[in-house]
Amino acid sequence: MNENRTSNESEPKHQRRVRYKGTHPKTFHEKYKEHNPEHYADTVSKVIQKGGTPAGMHISICVKEILEILQITPGQTGLDATLGYGGHTLEMLKCLDSKGRLYALDVDPIELPRTKERLEHLGYGPEILEIRQMNFSQIDQILPDSGPFDFVLADLGVSSMQIDNPERGFSFKTDGPLDLRLNPEMGKTINDRLKTISLPELQGMLIENADEPYYAEIARAIISNRKKGDITTTTQLRIIIKEALKAIPKITEDDIKKSCQRCFQALRIDINDEFEVLDTFLEKLPTVLSSGGRVAILTFHSGEDRRVKKSFKQFLNEGIYSEIAPDPIRPSSEECHANSRARCAKLRWAIKA
Ligand SMILES: C[S@@+](CC[C@H](N)C(=O)[O-])C[C@H]1O[C@@H](n2cnc3c(N)ncnc32)[C@H](O)[C@@H]1O
Repeated sequence: MNENRTSNESEPKHQRRVRYKGTHPKTFHEKYKEHNPEHYADTVSKVIQKGGTPAGMHISICVKEILEILQITPGQTGLDATLGYGGHTLEMLKCLDSKGRLYALDVDPIELPRTKERLEHLGYGPEILEIRQMNFSQIDQILPDSGPFDFVLADLGVSSMQIDNPERGFSFKTDGPLDLRLNPEMGKTINDRLKTISLPELQGMLIENADEPYYAEIARAIISNRKKGDITTTTQLRIIIKEALKAIPKITEDDIKKSCQRCFQALRIDINDEFEVLDTFLEKLPTVLSSGGRVAILTFHSGEDRRVKKSFKQFLNEGIYSEIAPDPIRPSSEECHANSRARCAKLRWAIKA
């Protein structure tokens, strides 16, 4: 085809996909087949079979276990507090069998409309599913419309679409702006936050949000590098962490990678107030559940799990919950093998008295 041909003004402009060198697309945006599962089902299933998550997709965790806990029956009213890709939402909708109502929330203004459209294509429109861009710390505000919920699910943290998209700045593995906001239309970026944070505050953040063993070295390096200029990209931060840890005796590349992971997690929790909103959500939960209503919460690190465990125990002792999970449920070894992101998941449940 002649690349230089002048385009005809009346013809609709052809949208060219992102070009990549070689035969195998590597970056998030180049993986156009994975972004189009409807057209490239084979490519997508090959990625999943190899234990990967296709670009622009999220593989839901502990689906079977969650459905066993929630015991959804047609006609019930439920809430998915963390819509994400809508994988759990879809399974819950199937259990409702076109009878009842499901509310679903997410703070992310980028992924939410995509998921809404996807679910609408599958036949789940406003007659059964109401999706709202809302923080789950405000669950009580839905109550006047929804009435009490028979079941609630929260699958905490970030989706694979958010982590894998370099423009969101969630991962040290790809270069992008140091943003880390679940809702990029609101609040400060972590880059802004790092401009003014004090050394003790940063150390505290790394300990409390991620149990980072090298918190002192990393915090010191971030503060001293700040003098040279703003830390604006994920790559800059990764290099600062790597340089800070290189001199530690017997440190391995794998240790450094884990520290990067923990550090990004700590910053993400901070900039999105994740612990504060989880505490508020847990506090409000019993007020939105019907008697006998069931809740399942999937957590991905100890800071989240501790909070869920403490709140469930407290409300059990007060007689507000009649039963809670005696221990956290872990994904099966098959699931962890098939989806590495399931490895650190813990599932807890409670039933309202
Ligand atoms: C792990 S993903 C959920 C994946 C989903 N269960 C699925 O099967 O596709 C977590 C989602 O929760 C959203 N989220 C995180 N904190 C939130 C909050 N406080 N309020 C509402 N949504 C939140 C994130 O934006 C993300 O889309």
